[in-house]
Amino acid sequence: MKIKYYGHAAFKIVTNDGLQILIDPFISGNPQCQVPLEEISTDIILVTHGHQDHLGDTLEIAHKTGAQTIATAEIATFVEKQGFEAVAMNKGGTVVIGDVSITMTDAKHSSSIETAEGPEYAGEPGGFIIKLEDGKKIFHAGDTSLFGDMKTIIGDLYKPDISLLPIGDKFTMGPEEASIAAGWLQSRIIIPMYYNTFPEIEQDPEFFAKITEEENIGTKVVILNSEGEYIEE
Ligand code: NI
Repeated sequence: MKIKYYGHAAFKIVTNDGLQILIDPFISGNPQCQVPLEEISTDIILVTHGHQDHLGDTLEIAHKTGAQTIATAEIATFVEKQGFEAVAMNKGGTVVIGDVSITMTDAKHSSSIETAEGPEYAGEPGGFIIKLEDGKKIFHAGDTSLFGDMKTIIGDLYKPDISLLPIGDKFTMGPEEASIAAGWLQSRIIIPMYYNTFPEIEQDPEFFAKITEEENIGTKVVILNSEGEYIEE
């Protein structure tokens, strides 16, 4: 399996069987992303919440690739209204695509979609646990504060092997909170996301790596560049 990073909260997971799962595809307006939108391919799009820096290029990519979007009912309905295929789900639920299962988790944040008529209600924000065919689990936290269920539900119940955590602060957890989340999740690998896209979320991922690895023996922080760099696991 490969996990590629496009900057901000945009990732692509490619399973051993070749299934491509794109998460929060903020590509064309993303100052961190060095990969042109035309080069993005996928089979599935997961959207954690409606904010433009997460919903991003979902419609364009759905149009170009025919990929299905998986999101809350509110975002799925929005995507369907634009004429594209979507699967509606909600927190605690699991959708199975082939031998991959996708579970939606809680996230503490807000969610709306910018439209020509103003912001549209987009339900509650979430995160995703993606369980691959070999049993490995990847957690994409979405935009969120630190919250206790990261320990008791996401950590204890789902036991993610790899967690993608926001460290930007101001709109989400900052590095200190994210390092506590890393301890609760007990993932083998933590990948920081949602930093240095805009001046408001400038952070030093090396500082996050240092405090996280010092506090959590056995956890490795992997910092990916936003040019589509990937780890293979
Ligand atoms: Ni957001």
